[in-house]
Amino acid sequence: MSEHDTTAEPNRRDFLYLTTGMAGVVGAGAVAWPFIDQMRPDATTLALSTIEVDVSSLEEGMSITVKWRGKPVFIRNRTQKEIEEANAVPLEDLKDPDSRNANLPPDTPALDVDRSAGEERENWIVMIGSCTHLGCVPLGQAGDYGGWFCPCHGSHYDTAGRIRSGPAPENLWIPPFEFISDTRIKIG
Ligand code: FES
Repeated sequence: MSEHDTTAEPNRRDFLYLTTGMAGVVGAGAVAWPFIDQMRPDATTLALSTIEVDVSSLEEGMSITVKWRGKPVFIRNRTQKEIEEANAVPLEDLKDPDSRNANLPPDTPALDVDRSAGEERENWIVMIGSCTHLGCVPLGQAGDYGGWFCPCHGSHYDTAGRIRSGPAPENLWIPPFEFISDTRIKIG
């Protein structure tokens, strides 16, 4: 390599590097579009935005986790004891007083009945299994309040999925859902 090559003056070789580099940028743009296009949800993915779950085999005290829109959703058939424990908590003791229930108007208080599937089905609770701190998946039937416990940074939720201690700011969210028969739940 001669000294001449190290000067700031562009020479033929630099020019070739520059044009090659620009072609690379344009090329990257050209391949990005088909890739993004592939990421658009197709009909199958859109269909999965609503799921139906058969809960007929879930006896009292049993839970399942299903996947909805890429997130875990907890479905639990709560025991009478769990419902009573949740109902015994004064609303003033709650860190987050909002029901966080997508099926109810915002600011609905976080009463147990409004965190569940309603008066007739208060035993059923359906929640997005994502800790409201940083999104870890909490463990069921664990923690200081016998509900859910997030071991990532120690958030404790009660039997109605309401945050009671730890860094999480909000109750576990309840997705849009409804019972479409006695044994089937539609989520989404
Ligand atoms: S993500 Fe749950 S406590 Fe931090």
